[in-house]
Amino acid sequence: MIQLRDLCYNYADGTPALKGISLDIPKGEFLLICGPNGSGKTTLIRLLNGLLKPGSGTVRVDGLDPAKDGREVVRRVGMVFQDADSQIVGETVGEDVAFGPENLGLSPEGVKERVDFALEAVGLRHLAEKPCYRLSGGEKRRVAIAGVLAMQSQTLIFDEPFANLDYPGVVQILKHILALHEKGHTIILTTHDVEKVIAHVQRVAVLERGELKTVGPAVSVVPAISNWSMHPLSWLPGRN
Ligand SMILES: Nc1ncnc2c1ncn2[C@@H]1O[C@H](COP(=O)(O)OP(=O)(O)O)[C@@H](O)[C@H]1O
Ligand SMILES: [Mg+2]
Repeated sequence: MIQLRDLCYNYADGTPALKGISLDIPKGEFLLICGPNGSGKTTLIRLLNGLLKPGSGTVRVDGLDPAKDGREVVRRVGMVFQDADSQIVGETVGEDVAFGPENLGLSPEGVKERVDFALEAVGLRHLAEKPCYRLSGGEKRRVAIAGVLAMQSQTLIFDEPFANLDYPGVVQILKHILALHEKGHTIILTTHDVEKVIAHVQRVAVLERGELKTVGPAVSVVPAISNWSMHPLSWLPGRN
């Protein structure tokens, strides 16, 4: 369970990126956080796993404060960044995915087990020895997903997971994300490109200029997003 209360954040240059956000995210939910570019989506999820500290207000992850219990929160909340390149630390795919579990202090066998599981889950086992710099954009994103899976984080956050992917790449990533939700993971996904995912999520939180404009099931938020995002009915089944 994630709880945000009256969360505010200003960047050092004075930009008020978040203004009084309150939101509860129950375990097992698939939540979409959407909003135009610059509305505060990335800032919000950086606060969720302690990469940024709130200016005021509180963040709690299973009752823990990410600013104080950072290590424990990072284990529970895995993050796949928008820029997959910035997340890759290993030379090969296998080494990269092993990085997180190694830092948890697991035995070499324990690490190997987790790496095998995670690579299998994203369909990259055959690329375990491949140098990361040789991967396509979609493969890099799957490596990043495998990295958080290997940590066995309950909550998985995806920041703009469809950015720079072609259509087959989008379908593939979405398929993996949906499978993880089916398995019981809490999924938080940000995008400015709502159509790709809105039909699959349980709730949508709409940010605008740092404020939480509305939150609720897809149907109830469509009026709030149709002016900047999409045709109001384009995500309904049977419309293409
Ligand atoms: N490092 C930074 N320094 C100053 N302003 C920033 C920084 N990062 C983001 N911002 C500003 O904060 C606001 C929210 O940005 P961000 O959370 O990245 O939005 P989104 O992810 O929705 O596109 C924007 O106005 C953006 O320009
Ligand atoms: Mg962003």
